[in-house]
Amino acid sequence: NECRELKIGEIRATDLTAQFGSPLYVIDEGAARAKAREVFTALTSEAERIGTSATVYYAGKAFLCVEVAAWMAEEGLAIDVASGGELSVALAAGVKPEMIGFHGNNKSVSEIDRAVAAGVGTIIIDSEIEIERVAQAAAAHGRVQRVRLRVNSGVHASTHDFLATSHEDQKFGQPLAAAPRLASLVLAHASLDFVGLHCHIGSQIFATEGFRESAKRLLSVYPELAKLAGRDIPELNLGGGFGIAYTPDQAADAPEVSRIARELADIVAESCAAAGVPVPKLAFEPGRAIIGQSGVTLYTVGTTKTVQLAGSDAAADPADQGFSERLYVSVDGGMSDNARPALYGADYHVRIANRVSAADAALVRVVGKHCESGDIVVQRDLLPGDVRPGDTLAVATTGAYCWSLASNYNYVPRPPVVAVTDGRARLIVHGETEAELLAKSVTGAADWAPTPR
Ligand code: LLP
Repeated sequence: NECRELKIGEIRATDLTAQFGSPLYVIDEGAARAKAREVFTALTSEAERIGTSATVYYAGKAFLCVEVAAWMAEEGLAIDVASGGELSVALAAGVKPEMIGFHGNNKSVSEIDRAVAAGVGTIIIDSEIEIERVAQAAAAHGRVQRVRLRVNSGVHASTHDFLATSHEDQKFGQPLAAAPRLASLVLAHASLDFVGLHCHIGSQIFATEGFRESAKRLLSVYPELAKLAGRDIPELNLGGGFGIAYTPDQAADAPEVSRIARELADIVAESCAAAGVPVPKLAFEPGRAIIGQSGVTLYTVGTTKTVQLAGSDAAADPADQGFSERLYVSVDGGMSDNARPALYGADYHVRIANRVSAADAALVRVVGKHCESGDIVVQRDLLPGDVRPGDTLAVATTGAYCWSLASNYNYVPRPPVVAVTDGRARLIVHGETEAELLAKSVTGAADWAPTPR
């Protein structure tokens, strides 16, 4: 039945690929906006319940383009940027500078200067060296720059090691114990306004204990900071990292944002009461939880092959028990448009989008077209055994950290991004062409040699 094709934003997947090409990133604008509102409402209403307010930053690193930045601003969110490039996108979208937070462990002096000149709301200071740099830039522009200090709460969130950022032995932030000393350095600068601490314990976190423990530890130093400042510390930024389900299996375990919001508000209220400090204004920076599930990547199947598992090393994987063969399904993209399976062993869920077929009976691995055996799009899923060349596959939950981590490995152009809603689609990020990639090669440029010294 033709009508039972997969639709996104009320448009058939195959109509989208026919119009915009394959592979194609599709963002359901209605879903993204709804999620932004849901997350915003959950976090701000819980903050209000404990007598404060909250700013919700959308972490642009998850996926940023001018349209998406504008949607987020329209939904009341601020934007967290992590580079001069992301800053430019947010500003180009018309995001109010005071609604921008600027992060990074190695912002360049010129990036800091641009951010201060633009009037960004908050700069998150990651290191002692940066205190001077931001202070100087602010003084040069005759501004008083609001800053937060990024600290590590020492909480090791249970997530993939590369995604955990608040234990001590990694590149971000300063130990919590150093916060009073660093805060004094910040407070000594007339061009800096110290508004509080920032902590981000990691990403794709399911267990909420880590968030709670981290908030508690941060607030335990607020009395000392207040003493140093001679005033209350007005704000606390608890970062992002809220985990989402990528596959139906994970759905039951992924935390509801409303629950995270409630638990965090409770622990903040409790910790402040225990420490004898007023409840600060809160800030959060979720990226994935807002945009992840509104994205789908569409691919076209090129080739398939069947591999016998019996007797092969693959048969050892318990997840493959009960299957005698695996169907490899090769698509027209891969690790260049979604690096996450290769980088983190991330799981994804795939469906045939162009037709209704027999029951899902075949163990499949969807792989890309790149010259690397780790070029996997979906490590393991079930699809009808008759999946074949020309089929359109939809891989779910590719809204976060897919386009933003994309590469041109093997000179494969990055696909375009289209936004769909209510039966209409529009391009929001151009795809690249092979000609554009070829044009990067330079031949016949004039030689240069350093002047002897
Ligand atoms: N705030 C800070 C300071 C961050 O470093 C991050 C993510 C976020 C907020 C947003 O985290 P989210 O809510 O999206 O989890 N490439 C990895 C994720 C790296 C996250 C880096 N920082 C992945 O694809 O899973």
